[in-house]
Amino acid sequence: MTNAVAEASFHEVLERLSEKSSRDFYNPYTKFSWPEAMAEGDWWMNPELLSVHGTGLVTDETSLKALARRETVNFFSLHVHGIRELMSEVARRIHTPRFAEYSGYLHHFIGEENAHMWFFAEFCNRYAGGVYPEPASPLATKEAHGAWGDLLVFARILIFEEIFDYFNARLGRDPLLPEILRELHAAHHHDESRHVAFGKKFVKHLFDLACAEDQERGHDGRAGAEEYIKAYMTYSVQSLYNPRAYREAGIVEPLTVRRTALRHPVREEFHHRVMARVDRFFVAGGIFTTPWGALDGAVR
Ligand SMILES: [Fe+2]
Ligand SMILES: [Fe+2]
Repeated sequence: MTNAVAEASFHEVLERLSEKSSRDFYNPYTKFSWPEAMAEGDWWMNPELLSVHGTGLVTDETSLKALARRETVNFFSLHVHGIRELMSEVARRIHTPRFAEYSGYLHHFIGEENAHMWFFAEFCNRYAGGVYPEPASPLATKEAHGAWGDLLVFARILIFEEIFDYFNARLGRDPLLPEILRELHAAHHHDESRHVAFGKKFVKHLFDLACAEDQERGHDGRAGAEEYIKAYMTYSVQSLYNPRAYREAGIVEPLTVRRTALRHPVREEFHHRVMARVDRFFVAGGIFTTPWGALDGAVR
């Protein structure tokens, strides 16, 4: 596909996604019927999606149910903090020259992410004592400028959305979960399918732009970007293993449990499964020279 044809088809996608966002627009503050309280003994997350699944580290149902509650809070908190930070990066760019022609869709994106941030935090505030504090991430604050900086922001958003979608797609139709949780996961999955469709096109566009700028300047930022994006993928899967969640679920030696679970071959296989789609995308687009999944000990 020539660049001109690719750009034309991207603009068609943008128009279609913007129309769909307008059509599907909802009021997050009235959309959900929040129950008075959550019933004791409910599973808040399917045990197969818990971070210790397949490791044999936690086996009794009471502890697993407690962990399902705390890992739901961790999961929602990751969205609240992660997307808040990335939204501010998008907001900083939205009406700059390079982004002007995408600003229509990006307004939908910011509006929808603002709704997600609200309903995930609302769940934690109502039923679980609030969101977890923002995790420290050396990667979140990396200063990258110009086209490579733009690419890294949207690559991070895409990785983030792929992880969420893996969970949301399954939990949004999981009969084990209480209705409110199913509804939140399903609503998020619905919006994110548009974000991921946009994100893939936009990341590729920003990558091509960064490479073209490099050519003019006699610079090559590709290796640095690949290294950073892979490190972010590793950091993102690691963030699903929160020692605070283990401790609050009554699990002894939370740090040891975290370390052991992260290295477990069943868990490594899970990380690769969650990341498979986005990993393939980065390779197919020429953004990666080798798959993240091929890294030895990628998530250790
Ligand atoms: Fe979201
Ligand atoms: Fe999103």
